[in-house]
Parts: sequence; C-alpha cells; structure tokens
Amino acid sequence: MTTKSQQLLNWVDERFPLTSTWKEHLSEYYAPKNFNFWYFFGSLALLVLVIQILTGIFLVMHYKPDASVNASGIPVAFASVEYIMREVPGGWLIRYLHSTGASAFFIVVYLHMFRGLLYGSYRKPRELIWIFGTLIFLALMAEAFMGYLLPWGQMSFWGAQVIVNLFSAIPVIGPDLSLVIRGDFVVSDATLNRFFSFHVIAVPLVLIGLVLAHIVALHEVGSNNPDGVEIKKKKDANGIPLDGIPFHPYYTVKDIVGVVGFLIFFTAIVFFAPEGGGYFLEYNNFIPADPLKTPPHIAPVWYFTPFYSILRAVTYPLFGLDAKFWGVVAMGASVVIIAFLPWLDRSPVKSIRYKGGLYKGILAVFVVAFFILGYLGVLPPTPGRTLVAQICSVIYFAFFLAMPWYSKIDKCKPEPDRVTFK
Ligand code: HEM
Repeated sequence: MTTKSQQLLNWVDERFPLTSTWKEHLSEYYAPKNFNFWYFFGSLALLVLVIQILTGIFLVMHYKPDASVNASGIPVAFASVEYIMREVPGGWLIRYLHSTGASAFFIVVYLHMFRGLLYGSYRKPRELIWIFGTLIFLALMAEAFMGYLLPWGQMSFWGAQVIVNLFSAIPVIGPDLSLVIRGDFVVSDATLNRFFSFHVIAVPLVLIGLVLAHIVALHEVGSNNPDGVEIKKKKDANGIPLDGIPFHPYYTVKDIVGVVGFLIFFTAIVFFAPEGGGYFLEYNNFIPADPLKTPPHIAPVWYFTPFYSILRAVTYPLFGLDAKFWGVVAMGASVVIIAFLPWLDRSPVKSIRYKGGLYKGILAVFVVAFFILGYLGVLPPTPGRTLVAQICSVIYFAFFLAMPWYSKIDKCKPEPDRVTFK
C-alpha cells in the first residue's frame, strides 16, 4: 500500500473498526478447510436477498398498491404490474428477476436447512444460529405471502382470502385478529395497502436484522463442517485452528463458483420459463382479481404447499374446537418444531457421515414425506389424497418427536479428531 492510502486507512481505523472488522470476519476468520457443495447455499441466500431488495426498489418505482379499477375496469395494482411488464424499459426483466427470485430464495433456503440436517449444524454451540434461521424462515414466509397479494390477480386475492380466514378459527381473538390483518371484513384495498407496507419495509427490515444476527452468531462460535468436528479444539502455536483456512481469499473465491452455477440456473429460468410451469407464477394470477368469481381450485405457491397439506390433513374436530383450528395449530407447529431440533437430537455425533443406518433411513423417509406433502398441497383434496397427507404429516412430526429416541439408539461410527480432506 502507498503511504498515502495507508495514511487514509489509518485515519479511518482510528475512527471506525474497518481493518479489524475485515480481519475478524474475512481475512482472519478461519473456516474449516473441508466445506463442500452444501456450503454454497448460505452465501447464495445472501445473494438472493440482495437481488430481491435491488429489484424490489425498482419495482416500487412503478407499482401502485391500489385496488380501485381504472377506466378500462382493471384494478390499478394489476394494471401497474402489466405496465411494468409491457411499457417500462427492462421492467419485464426486473419483475421476472423478483418473482423468480422468490422461488429461488426458498429453493436455496430449503437446501441450506437440509445441509443443517445432514451435518447436525444446529447442535451445540450453534443453537442460536439455528433459532435465528428458523425465525428467518418464518419472516421469509410472511414476506412471500404478502408479496403475492400485490399483483392483485385472482390467486393473489383468493389465496389471501383463504389464509387470512384461517386466523378466524382461533378461539376468542380469531375473528378480531383476521379483521386487523385484513383491515376490512373482506380482502380489499385496505389489505393491499397494509400488505404493501409490510412487504416493502417492515418485514425486509426484520429479515436483514435476523440475517445479521445469524451471521454474528455464526462467527462467534465458528462454522461446522461436513465431518461435524469442532476445528477450534485443535489449534497451532499461534492459536489458529489446524484445520482452518482464512475465509478470504479461499472461500470468497470458492463461493464465486457457486454464484456462477446458481446464476446460470437462475437466469435460464428467468429468460426461458419465468412462470416455472405455473409453479413460480400461477396461471390464474394472470387474471385480474375478481371478488365475485372464486377460482375452482385455490392453491398456494409451491414453497408453502408442504405446510398447507399438513393444515388440510387435519379433518377431525377436537375438544369442541373445529378441524380448521387444529389444522392451523398443526401447520404452525410444523414450522415451530424446527427450532427445537438442537434439543431433540441426542446422537453422539453431528454429521451424517458418522451416523448409523437408522438416522439415514429415517431422514430419507422424512424427505420423501415432505415432497409428497408438497405435491399434494397443489392438488384439490380427495379422500385418498387426504389419507396420504395424514400419513405423511404423522411421518413429518414423528421425525422430530421421536428423534430423542432413535438418535440415541442409532449405531454411530466414531467421529475423527481432525476433519477428513483429500
Ligand atoms: C435469508 C436467509 C438466510 C441467509 C442469508 C443465511 C445465511 C447464512 C450464511 C452466509 C451462513 C454461512 C455459510 C454457510 O454455512 O452456508 C449460514 C450458516 C448457517 N445457517 Fe443460514 N441463512 C439463512 C437462512 C437460514 C435458515 C432458514 C436456517 C435454518 C433454519 C439456517 C441455518 C444455518 C446454520 C445452522 C448455519 C451454520 C452452518 C454450519 O456452520 O454448518 N439459515 N447462513
């Protein structure tokens, strides 16, 4: 560095912890040297968050949260999205990046969470990273749900109608709660305005705050790795983990490989299949919202469907409360239970590499059940499908609730002292 730039850096460092932050979180943050494919998804989730915020800023410049109809009888909100798609230069690209980005976010986050299951990344001392992660997942669901109302298409309107009505099933406070969420007795302009406000500012602020907390907690305890070995246990004379390498430049460069691979996949969808076969943008949402015409089949977007299936699987009233209420409880519990994993897993090892056949088999059954639930959630219910959804819901909950038992009796291999790396 030239003396002048060194002087400038010194001037800044005396007033702001720039060099020390850079060192602590990048050039002297020692990450395990054996990160694999599964470790791309944290940085990819960050990338998608940035894409969503940037494209969102430009969408808001032309989008109008207004449910009243224009001179052609089209709701203003719907017409403003069409305007972005057809008239604003590059508007179609910004909109498709944002709508495809929503699905990409969930694909990346689901894979990121699955990595946690594979390598026991939620176990001590990473419980708080996991809890912040579960809260991020909840905030992300709220963000996506409210964003979906904004184009004011048939699915936006009727999807919101169905989901907000669920809250009215809660005893005592339910009816008032759904009234507060809607701001009206039906989904209306008031709902559109408050969802817009939450989607554009409130929930993104919460998300960014949670992501910061997630990463601060991670850097406090250090990263786990595919062997589930704590690298901080074996350090050299300078206190540097023997199996650690500086995050920068090693992983900043490695993550670029993930970014390029992701962008190839992502842009292929944006340019060639932005509707994702009706899964990323549902066909009914190309029709303006019509409060007088209910679509024959209302299905949430794919990333909600496993949880939606669990909701619909509950068909029996209990303790004088109707099935809808217990469905909402089951759906809520299916997300909240994820946060308890650190205390449910009693296995002597963290990583699947050293776990026995029992855990591997149960995890495989869980994943299959989750996919089946997701698939059933997009289909209209029939008695046969409801039965399958009930079986898969039981498997879903059993995976968590029986974990203290099966993780203990599973025949595990001994964990190595150092990470394995070829
Ligand atoms: C906006 C969403 C999210 C972002 C931007 C994000 C970001 C990150 C980043 C950058 C890392 C470090 C790199 C890596 O290990 O891949 C990480 C680690 C981690 N994340 Fe997330 N994350 C998000 C959501 C979640 C969710 C929903 C969960 C779980 C419920 C979760 C659980 C974890 C865990 C346990 C680790 C530590 C992994 C390890 O050390 O093996 N994250 N996250």
